[in-house]
Amino acid sequence: MSAVSWPACSRFSRFSLLPLLSLLSVLSPASSLRIPPHDEVAQVARFVAHQCDWASMATVSSHSPLIGRPFSNTFSVSDGPRGSGTGTPYMYLTRMEVSVQDLQVNPASSLSMSLAQTDYCRLQGFDPQSPLCAHIILSGDTVEVEGLEAEFAQKALFSRHPEMIDWPSDHSWFFAKLNITQVWVLDYFGGVKKVTPEEYYNASLHRKHH
Ligand SMILES: *[C@@H]1O[C@H](CO)[C@@H](O)[C@H](O)[C@H]1NC(C)=O
Ligand SMILES: *[C@@H]1O[C@H](CO)[C@@H](O)[C@H](O)[C@H]1NC(C)=O
Repeated sequence: MSAVSWPACSRFSRFSLLPLLSLLSVLSPASSLRIPPHDEVAQVARFVAHQCDWASMATVSSHSPLIGRPFSNTFSVSDGPRGSGTGTPYMYLTRMEVSVQDLQVNPASSLSMSLAQTDYCRLQGFDPQSPLCAHIILSGDTVEVEGLEAEFAQKALFSRHPEMIDWPSDHSWFFAKLNITQVWVLDYFGGVKKVTPEEYYNASLHRKHH
């Protein structure tokens, strides 16, 4: 993750530098994502939550023959426009959707997000199930948001999922968030690490400069 030493490259001509650049981008793929240190667990969680544009959301099924069983489904999420993540995953939902119908019966839900959704793990050669491929599990209730928070949710989601703007207006879309009560982090070895919502929201998404 350290910066390439450019002065050494200045000796190359423009023509030999170009292939070198493409070789470097293959050899140091991690340079596109700078993950916080493993011991900054809350910061890692915030980082993963901001990088991921979608999540697997588990609900308790309300649909026969799965009533009462875990039900995992894919949702587009955003915790804020790129570069300004809040940590809170927002979603754009309709009551016509099968998992949203579960939420109306029981709002308990769990969102799973992984750096396997970015190209980081693949380029590093980390299997999605490896703890080296950082992933998080957020737990809480999914609740509708209103007013200013709904305005923010719209900005957060539509900036990262522009096609949402054109989703059929007769579906009664609404904005929702996961009201986080538990943050579990799988990053590096040593088992799952638990972060309280207070620690999670207190963590800075960006490296501190003091
Ligand atoms: C979110 O969860 C907290 C803690 O369980 C609770 O006090 C709060 O009322 C919840 N907020 C909403 C909007 O459901
Ligand atoms: C909040 O962040 C500050 C600065 O990083 C830290 O000193 C403090 O311990 C944190 N508090 C909690 C509850 O995580």
